[in-house]
Amino acid sequence: MLSAEMNERLTRVGPGTPCGELLRRYWHPVAGVAEITKEKPKKRVRILGEDLVLFRDGKGRLGLVEEQCRHRSASLYYGFVEDDGLRCAYHGWKFDCAGTCIEMPFEPQDAPLKDAVKQTAYPVQAFAGVIFAYLGPDPAPLLPRWDVLLREDGERRLFILPELECNWLQVMENSCDPSHTFYLHAHTLKLKGKGRSGAYYDRPIEKMNFETVKEPAWCGIRKQRIYGGEEAEVEAGHPVLFPCVLLSPQREHLVMHMRLPVDDTTTKIFRMQFTPNDDGTPVGQPDIVPVEYVPPMKDEDGEYHLDSFASHDAMAWETQGPITDRGRENLGIGDQGIAQYRRLLREQIDRVEAGEEPHGVIRDPAINERIVIEVSSGQRRVAKQLAESSTD
Ligand code: FES
Ligand SMILES: [Fe+2]
Repeated sequence: MLSAEMNERLTRVGPGTPCGELLRRYWHPVAGVAEITKEKPKKRVRILGEDLVLFRDGKGRLGLVEEQCRHRSASLYYGFVEDDGLRCAYHGWKFDCAGTCIEMPFEPQDAPLKDAVKQTAYPVQAFAGVIFAYLGPDPAPLLPRWDVLLREDGERRLFILPELECNWLQVMENSCDPSHTFYLHAHTLKLKGKGRSGAYYDRPIEKMNFETVKEPAWCGIRKQRIYGGEEAEVEAGHPVLFPCVLLSPQREHLVMHMRLPVDDTTTKIFRMQFTPNDDGTPVGQPDIVPVEYVPPMKDEDGEYHLDSFASHDAMAWETQGPITDRGRENLGIGDQGIAQYRRLLREQIDRVEAGEEPHGVIRDPAINERIVIEVSSGQRRVAKQLAESSTD
């Protein structure tokens, strides 16, 4: 149970809020590279409560600037993309990818105004088919080079889910909640005649382990189910990479669920799915990973169709409320992971407030060469025996 004050502290993402300041210390996905094309070189994005325009200039450079023009606030989304920047459609002021004003057509050429005006701009990087942004103070840390985004021995697919109408923390808490898999997912599918007998949810769970990790390469929580019965088995666990990523096996795939806190009450999920081939040989990767948009989670009557894991999860997260009231909850033993994630979050917010670097921010290029996180040890063996493996 959390006080209303603590609930606010852990959930609000806007500029100047304690949690918003923490989340600004990390890179976040904002779009698929395939979403910024020559034909459509700009896109509106909202991240951490800020409205921005993502664009690629004529020279191929990416820029991310605040949407409202610093002249008289028209939307730059309707601006013209040129070779060296984005020109506002209202009076033609032009900004480059760093937000510098490089042209003011109706002002004297030597006017000091041009040097004084700066459109807020944030660094962006394209990596593995995704465009990531950093909204925090300089200098930006390194964009983590997760193994799943670097591997070439298989196929990579990028899915973008419909935006969720709920706060980001509800989504991340769920990643530390292994027990929901058995009812929300397994039982729902069973009742719909889609469950399979012998699946892992029929097996007795003896214990769930949650381990908080603070290593140089990553910070987060490793969750693990230990199955009982005659053949006790231990899963390697699904790491929750603080603050907003879940890495999880899903049948033969390895899936990176990247959650973007769009604003206080909206969350967007980028799901990178990697399917390794059998012999580990590298295969040619496409220059641009196509974006696949996941269909809505609700049916034509506006009700959750509950035909997929994603629809089950959306039902649970959104019905908790836009920002769930944690003052009315009753946590049990099965919610240890949630309590642990909140502790980690609280601690990192405190660190930022104290002027320290939060955990999981990477600045050492040697560490960042390739970050391999253990997911699969024993997992494949378990996954093969189990009819379905959890996604979340
Ligand atoms: S409002 Fe953008 S140039 Fe005037
Ligand atoms: Fe789930």
